[in-house]
Amino acid sequence: MNVTQLIDTANALMIDGKGLLAMDESNPTCNKRFAALGIAQTAENRRAYRNLIVTTPGLGDFISGAILFDETMRQQTNAGISFVEALKKAGIIPGIKVDMGAKDMAGFPGEKVTEGLDGLRSRLAEYAAMGAKFAKWRAVITIGEGIPTQACIDGNMHALARYAALCQEAGLVPIVEPEVLMDGSHMLELCLAATEKAQHALFDQLYQMRVDLRGVILKPNMVLPGKGCAHQDNVDRVADATVGCLLQHVPAILPGVAFLSGGQSAELASQRLSAMNVRFKGRMPWALTFSYSRAIQQPALELWKGQPANITLAQRALHHRAACNSAARRGLYNAAMEKQLV
Ligand code: G3H
Repeated sequence: MNVTQLIDTANALMIDGKGLLAMDESNPTCNKRFAALGIAQTAENRRAYRNLIVTTPGLGDFISGAILFDETMRQQTNAGISFVEALKKAGIIPGIKVDMGAKDMAGFPGEKVTEGLDGLRSRLAEYAAMGAKFAKWRAVITIGEGIPTQACIDGNMHALARYAALCQEAGLVPIVEPEVLMDGSHMLELCLAATEKAQHALFDQLYQMRVDLRGVILKPNMVLPGKGCAHQDNVDRVADATVGCLLQHVPAILPGVAFLSGGQSAELASQRLSAMNVRFKGRMPWALTFSYSRAIQQPALELWKGQPANITLAQRALHHRAACNSAARRGLYNAAMEKQLV
C-alpha cells in the first residue's frame, strides 16, 4: 500500500472550491430516471448521457472527481476515447462504484445490507489498471417502526470497513457512504440519532480493520427530517445538526467529507452545504464539500430528454449546478446565483 499516493489522491479530491460528481447510477437506477422522462432505456442512451456530462465545457473548474458505474467505465465517448481518459483530460479524477447494491437483509424486514465483497480484490485490481484512483461503496439505513436495528448498522459498517481496507491495498481511496434515507415522516431528531449510530459504528469498524484514515473520504447524508415530515427544519438548523454530528463522530485526521444529496432539491442541497461552510468556518478539521448525483444532474437530465438538440442547454444547466455547489463548498452560495444561468 502506497500511503503517500492515497493521501495525495484524497487531498486532490478535496481541493478547495471543488467537489465530486456522482454519475455512477446503476443501470436499473439510471433506467428509472430515464423512464420518468420518457427517455428510452438503452445502453447507448446511457452512454450518450454520460458523454454529455463528461464533455461539458469547464466542468473541471468545479469538479475534482467523478464516480463512474462499471458499464460507463467500459464505454467510450463520442470522440472514441474511454470515459476515464476523457475525465483525465478535463482535469477530473476518475473513480468507480464497486458495491453490488443494497439487498434485503435476511431476518430484518424493511432493512438492507449492501453486497459486493466476494471477488472485490480482483475487481479493484482491474479498475485500478483501467485508471480509477478511488472507489465508492454505499450502505443504506432506513428509519421506520423499530428500525434501524443495531444489527443492520453493524453489518453494513463492517462491510464498508472491509471494502475500505481492500481499496487501500489496491491503491484506491475508499469513499465510505453510510446513507440514512430521507424516506418517511420522521422528525430530524430521529435522523440525527440514526446518523450518529452509523458514523460511530463506521469509524469503530474502520479502526478495527486497520484502515488508514488519512486516505479515506466520508460521504454521509445531511441530518434532515423525513421527506414526509410536516415540520421541515430551516437551513441553519440542518447545518448545525449535520456538522454537530460530524464533529462528534468523525476523526480530525480524515481529509474530507463530501455529502450525498439523497433526494433534496438542487437549490436546498446548495443552500445547506453553503450554510455549513459559513457557520462552521475555521471550526472544522476536514474539508466539507459535495458528492451529489441528483442535485447536480437532475436539471440537466430534464432538459436533455434524450434529444441531441438539447445537449448544449443541458450542459449549461449541469455547469451551473456545479458552479453553485462549488460556491457552496466555499460558503459563498446565494439565491441570486440561481438567476445567473447563461
Ligand atoms: O450513492 C448515491 C450517490 O452517490 C449520490 O446520489 O446525490 O442523488 O443522493 P444522490
